[in-house]
Amino acid sequence: MNNSRYSEQVVLVTGGAQGLGRAMVERFSAEGATVYFADLNDAAAQDVVAASPDGSTTYSRVDITDAAAAKAWIDQIADERGRVDVLVNNAGIIRDNRIENISPEDWNAVIAVNLTGAFNCTQAAFGHMKNRGYGRVLSFSSMSWRGNFGQVNYVAAKAGVVGFTRGFALEGARHGVTANAIAPGLIETPMLASMNGPAREKLVAKVPMRSTGKPEDIAAAAAFLCSHEAGYITGVVLDVDGGIGIGSSIR
Ligand SMILES: NC(=O)c1ccc[n+]([C@@H]2O[C@H](COP(=O)([O-])OP(=O)(O)OC[C@H]3O[C@@H](n4cnc5c(N)ncnc54)[C@H](O)[C@@H]3O)[C@@H](O)[C@H]2O)c1
Repeated sequence: MNNSRYSEQVVLVTGGAQGLGRAMVERFSAEGATVYFADLNDAAAQDVVAASPDGSTTYSRVDITDAAAAKAWIDQIADERGRVDVLVNNAGIIRDNRIENISPEDWNAVIAVNLTGAFNCTQAAFGHMKNRGYGRVLSFSSMSWRGNFGQVNYVAAKAGVVGFTRGFALEGARHGVTANAIAPGLIETPMLASMNGPAREKLVAKVPMRSTGKPEDIAAAAAFLCSHEAGYITGVVLDVDGGIGIGSSIR
């Protein structure tokens, strides 16, 4: 880890109170960034702030599905700091069910947080990035974007993130703004940790590396993709998944 790679930089992370978002908040902060994160879980967010070096990390309660709230959050940071270097669109939710049981609310909520939330924040950040001719936007897809049983809402949203990233990459490129996505595989977050026994073993057996990933694996990839040195990489979807996204493994 390079503890000054992000010094002077302002990094925004959505959904930073727990899981992958928290790991990224900690990683960017450890590499010298001033980090701002948005979430809705106040208690978990306060923990993250308390565990961070003084003044390095600021939490705001922002619902990213609310375009005006997302814009107000980002504009205020840009006003105060004069720059927005990195935006990480990480916040996401699942509402899994077979298609016949997905309510309109569960369809709309999953699209709203995973896809529209990324659009809202990116639209708000892009003007500030364009003004300085520099920016990094990283959005969270999932290995599910290629298709997964019982998740049509999430699959559609995460495939949407891929399309959004590729389209936006073309618009950002001439302004020094890159747009990339990470598609995590099975990562040890509280949700996965709660799954034990045969179901978990079956799932892990499908991973060519035969193990789950850690939030730190995602944070390391994010810290690279959002760095200066990744400036010639745009429009890519990086699988961080122990090989599960390669395709079927029959042995
Ligand atoms: N954990 C995995 O194995 C995995 C695998 C593939 C993709 N992903 C994706 O990675 C991202 C992070 O996953 P995670 O497991 O850390 O999730 P998580 O549920 O642990 O954390 C998500 C955070 O987003 C916040 N959030 C939810 N809705 C919000 C809203 N409207 N506005 C602001 N904040 C909101 C939540 O409060 C929470 O703190 C998600 O986009 C997820 O879809 C995760």
